[in-house]
Amino acid sequence: MRYGKTSLAANALERLKRRNVFTAYLDFYDVTTLEQFAAHYARAIARACETKTEAVIHFIRDLIPSLRPNVTINPEGEVSITVEAAPKKSEFSLVLKDVLEIPQKVAEKKKRRFAVVFDEFQEVRTVGGETLEKMMRAVFQRQKDVGYLFAGSKRHLMSDMVLNKNKPFYKMGKVVFLGKIPLKDLRDFIAIKFEVSGKNIKAEALDDILRLSCAIPYHTFHLCHEIWNDCAGGQIIGAGAVAPALENIIVSLSPIYLSSWDALTLAQRHLLQAIAISGGMDLFSKDFINTHCLGSASSVQKSVKLLINKEVLEKENGNCQFADIWFGEWVKKRAV
Ligand SMILES: Nc1ncnc2c1ncn2[C@@H]1O[C@H](COP(=O)(O)OP(=O)(O)OP(=O)(O)O)[C@@H](O)[C@H]1O
Ligand SMILES: [Mg+2]
Repeated sequence: MRYGKTSLAANALERLKRRNVFTAYLDFYDVTTLEQFAAHYARAIARACETKTEAVIHFIRDLIPSLRPNVTINPEGEVSITVEAAPKKSEFSLVLKDVLEIPQKVAEKKKRRFAVVFDEFQEVRTVGGETLEKMMRAVFQRQKDVGYLFAGSKRHLMSDMVLNKNKPFYKMGKVVFLGKIPLKDLRDFIAIKFEVSGKNIKAEALDDILRLSCAIPYHTFHLCHEIWNDCAGGQIIGAGAVAPALENIIVSLSPIYLSSWDALTLAQRHLLQAIAISGGMDLFSKDFINTHCLGSASSVQKSVKLLINKEVLEKENGNCQFADIWFGEWVKKRAV
């Protein structure tokens, strides 16, 4: 769910940096192999400790000789450093372990603490299987001066990683399910943003935005952006501006949603329509099943499970809701 994990983590890292803590960030969506992980992570650590390109290169060469840093300059003149991973497969796990050990080594040497954020951490399994997960756990639990944040957006996978006794990250640290930004704060924030750009947004419009976007920051700001774009020269934004903006969003995303829809079974589509219309509460109750002619509770259960695994649905406080609420709106529009 797009509640703002990445923004929150970036903000926390920025604050820690100001307090003289080394900070590194790695998004697991950016890496597809273990070698790439080692290279990206080594670069992120090196950049945390050194600012000059030359120094970054020396840092990598000194600490992990088996990684080869290269400097490239793009046509705009920007310098970037790429890192190639170890040549020999047999030695690779040692290299990987070395890379994971560096933040603690640096922290001890420089007498400064280190903070690391791994974003979209559920992908660690796709990238490195349980080997990487196990190695990380073994190395990290011995490090005294490094703090880690493992953020992920696939709740069912993240939950399995930290709540399942048989998994390496079981009870590794504090588990936090990020909640929504308090409604009033989000509302005030939007009103101020419109105001500073010379627009007066009415209370009813704000209510509609928050209700339709379920106060999920990504969706809330997507809708705000569309409203702002549509209102062009207008200074006052009333409730009438919200529905057309949402319609624009849904129309523009329709090709993507059509192909998602195409990939679902009839039973799954039928269930999604029922959830879109009803809001997704008490899915296994007789009332819900009979009203929407869904067959039996066990078949609904099976579809729900599959749709959660496909990341079409998400469980939120016991309710089932669309992971992408605009998709929910799209389904609703076609169902009624
Ligand atoms: N505290 C906040 N105040 C204002 N806007 C925010 C805040 N947090 C997040 N946003 C906005 O909400 C949107 C989603 O935030 P972000 O990408 O951080 O979420 P996420 O949880 O990492 O999403 P994903 O699950 O896609 O990785 C972004 O457009 C971001 O600018
Ligand atoms: Mg994110």
